[in-house]
Amino acid sequence: MSMLKIFVGTMYGGALDVAEQVKPLFEEAGYSVAIYDNPTLENLTGSPTDLALFCVSTTGSGDYPGNFVPFARSIAEKSPELGSLRYGLIALGDSSYGDTFCGAGRQLDELLQGQGARRLGERLEVDAMETFMADDAALPWVQEWIESQALKVA
Ligand SMILES: Cc1cc2nc3c(=O)[nH]c(=O)nc-3n(C[C@H](O)[C@H](O)[C@H](O)COP(=O)(O)O)c2cc1C
Repeated sequence: MSMLKIFVGTMYGGALDVAEQVKPLFEEAGYSVAIYDNPTLENLTGSPTDLALFCVSTTGSGDYPGNFVPFARSIAEKSPELGSLRYGLIALGDSSYGDTFCGAGRQLDELLQGQGARRLGERLEVDAMETFMADDAALPWVQEWIESQALKVA
C-alpha cells in the first residue's frame, strides 16, 4: 500500500488537528497514513515515503515550533538527498506578524527543495486572521490537491 507521511510542527495543536482531520481523505484515496508529531529525519528517510504532507505553524519571529526544530536542523546539517520526495505543504500563520507570516512553512519549503524534493502544487498558507479553524481551509485544499495532482492510488 502507498504510504503518506504527515509531518507536524505545532505549538498549540492547530497543525496537528489539521493532520488528523485530513488523514481520512488520504485513506479514502488509497494511502496508509502515518502522522509524526515529533518528527525525526529517520521518519522521513528510514522507510519508503511515497508522498509527504507537512503541516507546520510558525512561532517566535518566523520560527519553527519547538517540536519541529530537531527535524529541520537534521535536514540542514545532514543534507540528505531528497530527490525522490514529492510533498505538499500546509503552513499555518497569522498575517498580523507581517513579514514573518508563515515564515516556518516558507523556510521549510526552501529547505526541502534545496535537497531536491519536489513540491506538488502551491503551498497552502492559512491565515489565523481570516480562518479561525485551520481545518476549514485545509480540508477543501487537500480534497482539491488530491484531485488536481491525481494522487489517488485506489
Ligand atoms: C508567540 C507567537 C508567535 C507567533 N509568531 C508568528 C509569526 O512569526 N508568523 C506567523 O505567521 N504566525 C505567528 N504566530 C501565529 C501562529 O502561527 C498561528 O496562531 C497558528 O495558527 C498556530 O498554530 P498551532 O496551533 O499549530 O501552533 C505566532 C503565534 C504566537 C502565539
